[in-house]
Amino acid sequence: MTAAASPLEYQVRLSDHARTAAERDAILAGDLGFGRYFTDHMVAIQWDQARGWHDAQVRAYGPLSLDPAAAVLHYGQEIFEGIKAYRHPDGSIWTFRPDANGERLQRSAARLALPQLPVAAFTESLRQLVAVDHAWVPSAPESSLYFRPFMIATEAFLGVRPAQAAGYYVIASPAGAYFAKGVAPVSIWLSEDYARAAKGGTGAAKCGGNYAASLLPQQEAYAQGCSQVLFLDPVEGRYLEELGGMNVFLVRRDGRIVTPELSGSILEGITRASILQLARDRGLVVEERKVSIDEWKEGVASGEISEVFACGTAAVVTPIGALKGRGFAVGDIDAPAGEVTMAIRKELTDIQYGRIPDRHGWLVRLR
Ligand code: PLP
Ligand code: COI
Repeated sequence: MTAAASPLEYQVRLSDHARTAAERDAILAGDLGFGRYFTDHMVAIQWDQARGWHDAQVRAYGPLSLDPAAAVLHYGQEIFEGIKAYRHPDGSIWTFRPDANGERLQRSAARLALPQLPVAAFTESLRQLVAVDHAWVPSAPESSLYFRPFMIATEAFLGVRPAQAAGYYVIASPAGAYFAKGVAPVSIWLSEDYARAAKGGTGAAKCGGNYAASLLPQQEAYAQGCSQVLFLDPVEGRYLEELGGMNVFLVRRDGRIVTPELSGSILEGITRASILQLARDRGLVVEERKVSIDEWKEGVASGEISEVFACGTAAVVTPIGALKGRGFAVGDIDAPAGEVTMAIRKELTDIQYGRIPDRHGWLVRLR
């Protein structure tokens, strides 16, 4: 598919209804939660078969105008990313492994038959948004600016085939903790009736459809007093895949740290990959392999598994206190977060927030 040969030229049009500094500071001083507030601007870049990527803009945040026949509205041809900007103690603004997100966006695009945005253009789109909205990057501890880059099929045509026109956008949201209770342990609901992905399906792509499929089981999880849903493999229903929006790790008492292998139907998390590296650096034995649900249940019951945690850009590293399913519950939601979980969380966030050296060269300066 066509990729722009030279860097895109941006047209920057500042919003005429941006929040005042006082309004913005009031939002940033309050409880940010996750995905509730948005900055004053957004990035928009158009693509069509004839011109490739073109018409790059930074413009006021606001509604998109779409033809009601746009393919995204009918066939769900959409992909997205999640990546954060962190403010360092000296005021500079950095992001974490943007090449990895840019490459994943390309893999998602390939699976959803959308055009490939060059990785350099992906990182540049974040830089362009931060250039105008840098004041929205919070400085409160553990807060960040969450970018939501996404791509949609915009061609107005109802035939079922890959669209010949698409739009790429980036919006940004100042964010605190994803879960209402911050880093406190969460309970997870095991979905046995539903899968989020299928063999040969789109599970490894970051596309809206996977999340649509997770919403009913997620609703079940809430009804059971749990904050996320755990999915098993779609073929045997025996092996762990991931949560609705996070990867999962088990820590064994003997120091091994285990995570489900990339099965072709789970998302290849960038936090997951970074944790595997940090765990290896600590001398822990890491295992990427099939992990059965019985290993989790029996291991927690016997004490062989001492900690379980979820990880992702939004969730960072979140301890899992309890696992519940039809007719069973294991773990203790009131137990304190595990030591390995919290040590890995601390090291990862210390790197992201510039509190310790970035020995793997993961940070990229945005401003
Ligand atoms: N799995 C799913 C389904 C996700 O939505 C996410 C979040 O992006 C992850 C895993 C973790 O990926 P990452 O660490 O790249 O944010
Ligand atoms: C992220 O962590 O960036 C995600 O996309 C998952 C979120 C929607 C829960």
